[in-house]
Amino acid sequence: MIEVKVNYCQNDIKEQKELNAIDSTVIEALHTVNSREGEGNDFLGWVDLPNEISEEEFQHIERAAKKIQSQSKVLVVAGIGGSYLGARMVIEALKHNFDSMLDSDKPIILYAGQTMNEGYLADLMDVLNKYDYSLCVISKSGTTLETALTFRILRKHLIEKYGEKEANQRIVAITDKERGVLKTISNKEGYDTFVIPDNVGGRYSVLTPVGLLPIAVAGFDIRKLVAGAKIMREKTLQDFSENNPIIQYVMARSALYCINKDVEIMVNYQPNLVYLGEWFKQLFGESEGKDGKGLFPASVCNTTDLHSMGQFIQEGNKLMFETVVHINQSKRHIPIPALKENDDNLDYLQSLTFNEINHRAEEGTRLAHLEGEVSQIEIIIDRLDEEHLGALIYFFELACGVSAYALGVNPFNQPGVENYKKKMYALLKQ
Ligand code: PA5
Repeated sequence: MIEVKVNYCQNDIKEQKELNAIDSTVIEALHTVNSREGEGNDFLGWVDLPNEISEEEFQHIERAAKKIQSQSKVLVVAGIGGSYLGARMVIEALKHNFDSMLDSDKPIILYAGQTMNEGYLADLMDVLNKYDYSLCVISKSGTTLETALTFRILRKHLIEKYGEKEANQRIVAITDKERGVLKTISNKEGYDTFVIPDNVGGRYSVLTPVGLLPIAVAGFDIRKLVAGAKIMREKTLQDFSENNPIIQYVMARSALYCINKDVEIMVNYQPNLVYLGEWFKQLFGESEGKDGKGLFPASVCNTTDLHSMGQFIQEGNKLMFETVVHINQSKRHIPIPALKENDDNLDYLQSLTFNEINHRAEEGTRLAHLEGEVSQIEIIIDRLDEEHLGALIYFFELACGVSAYALGVNPFNQPGVENYKKKMYALLKQ
């Protein structure tokens, strides 16, 4: 379902020789996930999530999604970090690129609470004045300022638009099972509520209602998504051999880190995967970046970014390697048309599909970047659908947990994030 290929550039191969020691560390780290004895092990709930979502929970999510679909043209998802990126990544990957311009029979998903920018929220409210909408507020802690402030504003907007009773019917809250202000408000107002399990942290929560509800509202099959993750779990969680694609990926990125390749760029070749890059950056950045360690996760979307970052990657400071997500099949096809005259000199491309041309650009870039001393890891999947995305989610989550343990950090906390909050609150309360 997922294949990993590693292409080291010549310089990295030379240095790579001494690095076989990393192999046993990575295998040990997979054992640590399996034994549930590593640091932060009370946040390992995501490991078994694909097997544990009950029929009752699927049905609750599907019922809520149908209700939102029947009453709203727009669903606003209010959340930040792990409380929104997973849902957005899947929805962007699967949806029509221009759905908001088409008369879709499913609600358009819009996002709020991921910024403090009032201009963004004011613009969003211009749209919400025009369309029927529902609001899904997501916060595990229930206290995150961006989300809480946005919720305060949109809750008022909903009440003014629909009256209190109907507004409360249009709000769904996804939060902790008992703690936090959001839980208290939800109980008081009688919102439909979903629980984020105690043992699943934000950035590992896409296969809980945090991701599944918005994805279901957008019209995608959450059962297939979870089934894909389940297949990947079965294939990888207990395979300690070098045939395991997770071990292959983690070994390669850890080895490259050991020879001072400090930046991992996730590369894709389609605009609807930009948010895969955003989700990946959060997952790995918050999980690994601590104790002065960790690869800096970055992302580019090609061929667009070949015309900007391509220059740096080819010829700039050699601090990075690339992890390319390669998708074999394209969802849609456009033939290269014949013209009466070959006045644009592009006739030579007529025997190829657009997707094949994109793949040649990818292949050409790989060769050029290898020449430019940038090593490449390829993550190959057949197509972008719910099942393959579910597999990809589990692949990266497990790879992240294993990588962080191999690095010697706790993958499941984010002490550094608290620091900015303390300083911000101190200033706000002055
Ligand atoms: O991965 C994480 O834990 C974080 O990114 C959180 O998801 C993010 O800070 C939002 O937190 P909360 O869901 O408590 O509002």
